[in-house]
Amino acid sequence: MSKLDDVVKEVADEMRRMPERGEVATYIPELARVDPKAFGIAVIDAEGNVAVGGDADTPFSIQSISKVFTLTLALGKVGDRLWKRVGREPSGSPFNSIVQLENEKGIPRNPFINAGAIAVTDLILSGHLPREALGEILRFMQFLADDSTITIDQQVAASEQRTGFRNAALANYMKSFGHLDNPVDFTLGVYFHHCAIAMSCRQLAMAGRFLAQFGSNPSTGHAVVQPERARRINALMLTCGHYDGSGEFAYRVGLPGKSGVGGGILAVAPGKASIAVWSPGLDTTGNSRLGQIALEHLTHRMGWSIF
Ligand code: DON
Repeated sequence: MSKLDDVVKEVADEMRRMPERGEVATYIPELARVDPKAFGIAVIDAEGNVAVGGDADTPFSIQSISKVFTLTLALGKVGDRLWKRVGREPSGSPFNSIVQLENEKGIPRNPFINAGAIAVTDLILSGHLPREALGEILRFMQFLADDSTITIDQQVAASEQRTGFRNAALANYMKSFGHLDNPVDFTLGVYFHHCAIAMSCRQLAMAGRFLAQFGSNPSTGHAVVQPERARRINALMLTCGHYDGSGEFAYRVGLPGKSGVGGGILAVAPGKASIAVWSPGLDTTGNSRLGQIALEHLTHRMGWSIF
């Protein structure tokens, strides 16, 4: 057993015993059905060693973690033109907030709040049918994770499509500024479906490897992006990846990370490891409560904080 195996096992054991697990998201009704006791962790180090604990192979709804991958895909398609539609500053506001959009002329603060991610999805969609854009996003996830079994949970997507009134408001508001190129329904449909991709911690840690390894995934031999782009995506994850909880996450964990309301977090220790954790109970900023604690313990014990 390596030190990493020991630490991952310890962290999984500690999380299993945690009494206070946070609240499971209910605003997407289908997410409320998930077992709040679940906890999973998967870590892939620079050499490709995989350490797992708890429910590391149970698929969960990746939700906003998908925004890291749609950003990567959109940058590959439109390059720096993307930054005409989306900013690069932390918002200090909840993930679904609309307030800044009015003063800032329909340009969302960053690609990870819902408004910014919807704008990014619109850039991927441009000129294609929703089905084609979605197929491209899903194939990208399968390619990164080297796993063709990854799918979209249609129940979760349909559940959000029925209840996503705030996202509809954000999309319509941006459309009124002329900042969405496609019909609002098309863009939202693709957005809801990529948020509903289901993956396990093991698959997610694999998909995030290129961010931890300077743009390439050594397991698959694939160069995904240039090292500079990987650095920049990591910078955005550090400053904006947990919305109005980003400062707290940087303070406690010290790594770039992206959360989702399904309770997952993808974290990146550059040059060292790609890490995925999952526990469905959330804190008041919509970020996994145990996921953050687990990452705090892991990075502390492994000495992986970037600071
Ligand atoms: O648009 C939404 O509200 C969800 N599909 C994603 C939000 C989310 O994951 C926020 N993250 N913690």
